Amino acid sequence: MSRKGRLKRTAEIYHGDTMRISVRRRLQVLVSLLFVSGLAGVSAAQPGPRPNVQLASKEVNARVEALLKQMTLEEKIGQLVQFSAGFATGPGASNLKWDELAAKGQVGSFLSVVGADATNHYQHLAVEKSRLHIPILFGMDVIHGHRTTFPVPLALAASWDPQVIETVARSGAVEARADGIAWVFSPMVDIARDPRWGRIIESAGEDPYLGSAVARAWVNGYQQDDLSKPDSVAVSVKHFAAYGAAIAGRDYNAADMSELTLRQVYLEPYRAAVEAGAATMMSSFNSINGVPATANPFTLTRILRKEWGFDGFVVSDWGAVAELKNHSIGDGPTVARKALTAGVDMDMEGGLYGTVIAGQVRAGTISESVVDEAVRRILRVKFALGLFDHPYTPVGPVYEATPERRAMARKVAEETFVLLKNEPVEGVGPLLPLTAKVKKVALIGPMADAQAEMLGAWAVTGDAKNAVTLKTALAQRLGDRLLYAKGCAMESGDDALILAHASFDVPASGVAETSIPDDDKTIAEAVETAKKADVAILALGESATWMEGEAASRTTLGFTGAQERLLESVVATGKPVILVVLAGRPLEIKWAAAHVPAILEAWSPGIEAGPALVDVLFGDVNPSGKLPATLPRAVGQEPLYYAQLPTGRPAHGDLSHMPRNADERFMSRYLDEENSALFPFGWGLSYTRFSYAQPTISRAEVPVREALESGHGPLATVGVDVKNTGSVAGTEVVQLYIRNTAASVEQPVRELKGFTRVTLAPGESKHVEFPLGFDELSFYNVDVKRTVEPTTYKIFVGGSSLATGETELKVAE
Ligand code: NOJ
Repeated sequence: MSRKGRLKRTAEIYHGDTMRISVRRRLQVLVSLLFVSGLAGVSAAQPGPRPNVQLASKEVNARVEALLKQMTLEEKIGQLVQFSAGFATGPGASNLKWDELAAKGQVGSFLSVVGADATNHYQHLAVEKSRLHIPILFGMDVIHGHRTTFPVPLALAASWDPQVIETVARSGAVEARADGIAWVFSPMVDIARDPRWGRIIESAGEDPYLGSAVARAWVNGYQQDDLSKPDSVAVSVKHFAAYGAAIAGRDYNAADMSELTLRQVYLEPYRAAVEAGAATMMSSFNSINGVPATANPFTLTRILRKEWGFDGFVVSDWGAVAELKNHSIGDGPTVARKALTAGVDMDMEGGLYGTVIAGQVRAGTISESVVDEAVRRILRVKFALGLFDHPYTPVGPVYEATPERRAMARKVAEETFVLLKNEPVEGVGPLLPLTAKVKKVALIGPMADAQAEMLGAWAVTGDAKNAVTLKTALAQRLGDRLLYAKGCAMESGDDALILAHASFDVPASGVAETSIPDDDKTIAEAVETAKKADVAILALGESATWMEGEAASRTTLGFTGAQERLLESVVATGKPVILVVLAGRPLEIKWAAAHVPAILEAWSPGIEAGPALVDVLFGDVNPSGKLPATLPRAVGQEPLYYAQLPTGRPAHGDLSHMPRNADERFMSRYLDEENSALFPFGWGLSYTRFSYAQPTISRAEVPVREALESGHGPLATVGVDVKNTGSVAGTEVVQLYIRNTAASVEQPVRELKGFTRVTLAPGESKHVEFPLGFDELSFYNVDVKRTVEPTTYKIFVGGSSLATGETELKVAE
């Protein structure tokens, strides 16, 4: 191999999939990866880098080994078992004798047991009654706050502010620990490019770069780089892997894609989370390229353990080990063996590890060393968390939504709102922010006063009673200047019936009672209310309590029930309308975008929904959120995302440019809809305006060799001056995108590679810089190695994925 070739190879391996800390560590990495890739002719089982130093520490591992030596096979297997002793989030919940299991050391973890008293109860049994006194690890779905409910994760990603995510993680961690929970099933880092999939609400949206930044922030916030702190919790990064790529957006469906896309897009946020020290992962329900993720040695062992050096443990998703039978890869004992040997260490609620592993170990079909390794990984996390030294939770005062907690939730929510549109109305000007000139405000819509809807789909321990609605907050601000009409229900007709039947509270008779709302009557009332006001605020959306989150895929993305009709009827009055969209996924709002002058995307904002919305509607706070996921024009465009791969037949312009000739007719486009987004990724307006100067780059050309050797360091810096040209202070999320124009493997038409939030006073200008190095410029080549090749990168800087400020960087031979 030539020197150039060797250098390139070395750099590919360095940058392959690893974190880089020091020169010594780099050498370790290089050596281990040489082993892994077989280049040194040694087994692939050599250790990779160790991203979590606590889990890799001598002290922790010495304690693990000492304990492991004393354990019987049954006690070992007990550690691999997890049951819900609380509520169920899937079929087949067990009803075993929890006390007995805990006292015999036959359960390593419980999920969904909440509260110091409840967790201490089982912990006393495990620690005092079981032979080896091994504490139980209590896990829980702490998703966007624990008792204090913040905006849903998709909304948090819309802040483009890692600090905001860390704040929410910290709050969740502190409150979870007070409830005896040391392990949270968060963050969900699945890339979600199809809003038909209801779980997009739990994600950071469509982009791997933003998703990775968000993933790191969650891990840092929860674990604080030190699992032993009394207010740290271990994360469970989920759902490994590619769960968000469910075909056709149908939950639990298969994912099927090239390894390049898997690595470059879907695995990136998981990798970021592991590099940040994530202690555990959760395997997903889906299959990946034909192999179920919960029995997938390629992702669970080769990538996660060997390439990324993960020392924590993997828990299956709920019942996912037993569900492997439905994937037709074997009977119970077979699928349990496949899952365990592939790298799933703990069986969540599947009931299989506890019943069919021991026999196979005795029969010699599973080596006991496989069980030992799984136990080690679980015990490491328990030791690192300090559970052996402090197994119990002090019983404290009951949770209260104090003013401090509320202030935090309000501030966070304010950063998540995205102003989609704010066009001047003739004779009035822009409707937002609302001014004192507006005397009477009509608040209309089923989301305007729906406390439970404000919490979002995954607020297990959130309490709707703590949520302040828009109606309550506006009434405080406006007194009798506020008029209100609900307008319609969230669901009508068949939807209302389905909702009633889908409810968990269906009576024993099996027949749910419901009344079909009289939408005609309530819409007519709303129209009359709007007529009496200067402006109408419509609070519409999608039911967070039953149409979003897990098992909530949709084939349509419009407002539910009669809400669209309500909107059109109020707009028809001629009164100026402000639309506030409250939904956990990008909805299809094409009609609204064409007919409503002001639209605010507010997601599911949490307990301080109302006050936060009022702050933004009245301009006390200037909106600064940006879309983390594309809003489509039509559901038929899905999956729609900005970082598309190029096509040989790109469409030019919009549909009006499509004459009936072959030049435009035979292009990659729809006959009945534009290709473009209604509102693109990164989009979001402000009450002020920002102007961008021409971006500059510190050097125009970089030799490829330097790019390959650069490690994390910057090769060039892109600079841009951003100015607030309006009359109020505001915060802009400045975004940098690249396009690789000559790669050996097709690269997306644009990719986010940098962003930062800049706050500017009126008239103020700031210089913003973005480093570009191997991390930003590299991609996976056809040999599945991360590399940089000679090419030219077009670089775009601006306030959304439509950024027009342009410069370039050449990577020379
Ligand atoms: C199933 C969900 O997919 C997962 O996200 C959750 O953490 C578990 N249930 C436990 O509730």
